Amino acid sequence: MEQINDYINTHKDRFISELIELLKIPSISADPAFSQDVLETARAVEKSLKAAGCDKTEICETKGYPVVYAEKIIDPSLPTVLVYGHYDVQPPDPIELWTSPPFEPVIKKTDLHPEGAIFARGACDDKGQMYMHVKAVEFMIKNDALPCNVKLMIEGEEEVGSDSLADFLTEHKEKLSNDIILISDTGMIANDVPSITTGLRGLSYVEVEVTGPNRDLHSGIYGGAVPNPINVLNKMIASLHDENNHITIPGFYDRVEEVSAAERAEMAKAPFNLDEYKKALDIDDVQGEKGFTTSERYSIRPTLDVNGIWGGYTGEGAKTVIASKAYAKISMRLVPDQDPDEITELFTTHFESIAPKGVKVKVTPHHGGLPYVTNMDSLGYQAAAKAYETTFDKTPVPERTGGSIPIVALFEQVLESKTILMGFGLDSDAIHSPNEHFGVWNYLKGIETIPYFYKYYTELST
Ligand code: BES
Ligand code: MN
Ligand code: MN
Repeated sequence: MEQINDYINTHKDRFISELIELLKIPSISADPAFSQDVLETARAVEKSLKAAGCDKTEICETKGYPVVYAEKIIDPSLPTVLVYGHYDVQPPDPIELWTSPPFEPVIKKTDLHPEGAIFARGACDDKGQMYMHVKAVEFMIKNDALPCNVKLMIEGEEEVGSDSLADFLTEHKEKLSNDIILISDTGMIANDVPSITTGLRGLSYVEVEVTGPNRDLHSGIYGGAVPNPINVLNKMIASLHDENNHITIPGFYDRVEEVSAAERAEMAKAPFNLDEYKKALDIDDVQGEKGFTTSERYSIRPTLDVNGIWGGYTGEGAKTVIASKAYAKISMRLVPDQDPDEITELFTTHFESIAPKGVKVKVTPHHGGLPYVTNMDSLGYQAAAKAYETTFDKTPVPERTGGSIPIVALFEQVLESKTILMGFGLDSDAIHSPNEHFGVWNYLKGIETIPYFYKYYTELST
């Protein structure tokens, strides 16, 4: 396993240029205009898995974008690691805020990445992190260092809710059977503070539409006399939080697992600097649910946020108008044991009930996903911890994150296996934002660390 450092030194330029080629393809799953690019990316990923030495590679059709599957089975009696990742990316907009074009990757130095970072949409989420696994598998296969079996499934619809994946799992349960699932699609605390993600939040995502008068109206002739759907929608949204920033939807907190004081004290040991946090975001204060710290607010507590709001005139200059309709997209991040379907229903009932007379309200559910937590006693966690200890010379910090990867809970339900989340990105890598990037150091460190997971997992479980 120790040859990994030599292998990286010899091949790192190629590792970087291969990733750059992959990042050039705009695999934006949300926008049908890019469907050919998404498919091209699937083919490129398959090719890379073949080149890495996998025995069997295929592009599996689903009702949406395909899943790329590959495997290297060395001995069916040995454990099997299933790697999951996604080759689709978020839309790059607002495009004018990028300092270099999102699909023309360049390496630039930053304060946190003095050795350079690759700037491109998907650099960190998740092409860069997914490709670390392809290169780690390449190393193990080409150097006779693969200690167990490996299967990889790389999907193309993660950023739009993994709609086709539930069916895919049930249909291919046998093929995907495994002992442990390994994912790099989260972050770590800092380059000198490695961490293992032990929890993900769930998600309920809805779109709301408020309709007032049957047509757009002159805001002078009618203003003040009819319900203005934009005013109404804003009031309704404002009422979803009380003065302590608790969510006011009846029943919303009923299933929230209260984390014990002991556990909260343990979590508080993870390094977190509020001043740096505020400085990095250029805000002079934070905001959130009363009674909880900032890191608790984004990890162990559920939230409700407007992700987009529109209606009326938003073009150049001023137009005096009362719109007929107003819209908003709202996400609710969920924690154990909240259920996304139930939360969507509670939201819908409540939102309809607070609509004043004179407007009509429509709630359309989008995707959802269950939250996930894993414990530190598992073989998988221990193997991951030992891997970080080997390559970072530090014990990783367990950390629950605020983001969501809905498939992880489904993996547990359908495939009955636990997932280990080894993320190598930083929060400041700007995933989903303009100027997304991934540190070259992080990329290579991931490639170095992953093979040790295989080694220790196999040792601990056989
Ligand atoms: N990789 C992210 C999730 C993530 C990022 C988790 C950083 C923890 C830390 C993933 O691609 C993502 O963006 N998920 C979406 C949910 C999905 C249903 C669109 C999210 O969290 O908003
Ligand atoms: Mn991702
Ligand atoms: Mn994402």
